[in-house]
Amino acid sequence: METIQFYSGKKIPLETHRVRVVQKLYLPKVEERLKALKEAGNNLYLLKNTDIFLDMLTDSGVNAMSDNQLSAMINADDAYAGSRTFFELKDKLTELFGMEHFLPTHQGRACENILAQSLIKEGDVCPMNYHFTTTKAHIVKNGGRVVEVVKKSSVITDSTDPFKGDFDLDELENVINEVGAEHIPFVRVEAGTNLIGGQPISLGNIEEIHRICKAHGISLVLDASLLQDNLYFMKIREERCKNMSIREITKEVASYFDIIYFSARKLGFARGGGICVRTKELWDSMKEAITLYEGFLTYGGMSTKEMGAIAVGLEETMDFDIISQGPLFIEYMVNELDKRGIPVVKPAGGLGCHLDAMKFVPNIPGDQYPAAALCSALYLAGGIRTMERGTLSEDRNPDGSEHIASMELVRCALPRRVFTLSQVKYAIDRITWLWDNRDMIEGLTFTEEPKTLRFFVGRLAPVSDWQEKLVDKFKKDFPNCL
Ligand SMILES: Cc1ncc(COP(=O)(O)O)c(C=O)c1O
Repeated sequence: METIQFYSGKKIPLETHRVRVVQKLYLPKVEERLKALKEAGNNLYLLKNTDIFLDMLTDSGVNAMSDNQLSAMINADDAYAGSRTFFELKDKLTELFGMEHFLPTHQGRACENILAQSLIKEGDVCPMNYHFTTTKAHIVKNGGRVVEVVKKSSVITDSTDPFKGDFDLDELENVINEVGAEHIPFVRVEAGTNLIGGQPISLGNIEEIHRICKAHGISLVLDASLLQDNLYFMKIREERCKNMSIREITKEVASYFDIIYFSARKLGFARGGGICVRTKELWDSMKEAITLYEGFLTYGGMSTKEMGAIAVGLEETMDFDIISQGPLFIEYMVNELDKRGIPVVKPAGGLGCHLDAMKFVPNIPGDQYPAAALCSALYLAGGIRTMERGTLSEDRNPDGSEHIASMELVRCALPRRVFTLSQVKYAIDRITWLWDNRDMIEGLTFTEEPKTLRFFVGRLAPVSDWQEKLVDKFKKDFPNCL
């Protein structure tokens, strides 16, 4: 396809699909938003979708599906065992990743559960570029420890580094030498590193990690949930990938790993997950856990319809025009906010635009959850649901003290093929209003605090009446919002 260029010279992201099914949206009035926020205990996960205008919580399981995916769903072979659709999915994965063996699961964290139960022993250490919430929880639950070896500069939000997901290779060597390879069941690489802003890792860095792991006899595992965006960034930002097709880049990435697991709620534009393994021994060692926790070996908790959609979605992921849509819209949003002086993670990554709450609301201390407070404020400002990625997403230290996160981000996710440019512009407009009124935002405190993954179901309250005051200001500044 021709690279689209505008006569005006402006860089405007343009949809390369047309919309054929729509869902009506409802913007609750600001008083309704305040009421809904209180009822949800200031936890946006606990809102009802009907109370939300733009849902930018996540890109997980809510990406728009294509006509070809929908037809694959109708065509799927419903069978408890031996479904033709399972083998079509397995063959597609083998074609793309070059791995013969596949274990289906119901979603990404199920893969993490099975990998952690099968491979982690008490006292083990898992080096990785950066943790993901559910990954860490499973490793810790099985007696292991996560060590992050991402470059120090990767957690600096304002940066020009094109590959902030890269490992610090010296640091990886240091950890292996300190801990001993025998205590490291695997090194985990996360593509499109989620919690630092959907930032990619380079192919060159993966090759080096592989060299180090091979020298020490350590297995290498890829979390490919966010591989789609990462492939796009490799193609446009890495010299050696410029003349490679997305399929060729995928093949080379995969060739460095022993295990590749993924959430198909992200990779493949559908819902589900799975673990691809290189050897029959590994497959054998995990297959019983699949039948115990997930389902039979030819569906693993997924509906066969979803498996059909994933197989087509994976093929669509090999299409550069399709996978460039998300990052181009995110880049637009990041650049527009940056022009207004609003602190965002730069360069633009995948999965969403990330606001830097430490700079947006520097008055809020870490133990009053700055990013979570900003998420609440943005919901009040525009009916926009976003996700906190900061201290609230961490569990407490064993002594009960807060584990203050190194980054406080508000993720405005742009699920793939879902939002139009004017919806993105609306979000930019409301974020700008909030930026101009940022001094009014204060912190939150827990009223109900779960022990683990507390961000999912915990409940909080504002530390003062700042939310009522923000609503009053909104009514003054938007007199026509009746
Ligand atoms: C990098 C990464 N790994 C694992 C998961 C977990 O996947 P799931 O939500 O399907 O359980 C996610 C989900 O957001 C993710 O981003």
